[in-house]
Amino acid sequence: MMNILIYDTQEQVNKVGASIISNIILAKPDALLGLATGSTPIGIYKQLVDANKEGLISFKDVATYNLDEYVGIDGSHNQSYRHFMNENLFNHIDINIEKTHVPNGKAVDLEAECTRYDAEIDAAGQLDIQLLGLGHNGHIGFNEPADHLSAGTHIVELAQETRQANARFFTSIDEVPTQAITMGVATILKAKTVLLVVKGEDKADIVKEALRGPITTQCPASLLQLHPNLIVLLDSAAGSKL
Ligand code: F6R
Repeated sequence: MMNILIYDTQEQVNKVGASIISNIILAKPDALLGLATGSTPIGIYKQLVDANKEGLISFKDVATYNLDEYVGIDGSHNQSYRHFMNENLFNHIDINIEKTHVPNGKAVDLEAECTRYDAEIDAAGQLDIQLLGLGHNGHIGFNEPADHLSAGTHIVELAQETRQANARFFTSIDEVPTQAITMGVATILKAKTVLLVVKGEDKADIVKEALRGPITTQCPASLLQLHPNLIVLLDSAAGSKL
């Protein structure tokens, strides 16, 4: 079932997104959260930090699994997704850092790291929620449009478009890694709830394509239409073409 919620402001989107996650933690203190990086979830993470500071929710027993990480940079690099998560969420809440998981983009054997990451998630159990942003080309995680998509965690070549979009965080485009390690679409679709959050007019076309267009590997987010419990949170700009 797809539940599309459209709000006037990004602030409202952030509040609703955070309350969906908070409610999961309240109902299940040892919830398993699938998390994302990028600009989209930052406001949601801020709300979760505030809720934790106010004593409304605790992350003490929560475990997290991030979608993806760049290949070739380690967790201490200021553009790594591990660093992003520490800075935007983990360092400010009462989570046990040992229970936070991000694929290791510096693993010597990357194939083994993919297998290990999937096994780690499988052993933990079903993710209670997977938070997702949406790429302009329809990517989710780093599952880029392609003829074939991979089910499990795997290594991907980043689309030029994606490297360009992320170049703003690096000193130059040449420094943007060319590969990433990402959960696969099956891993994502296995979560009990998928929470897709999209903001901004620049994503209005791809939102429409992903939610109303044909289900195709050329728009990986369109596969979310198959999920039994998909919640889509949009600001009015991102939802303007639906
Ligand atoms: C991030 C991720 C990406 C982003 C997407 C949107 O972990 O997997 O799929 O969600 O690129 O990025 P923003 O939110 O920066 O527009």
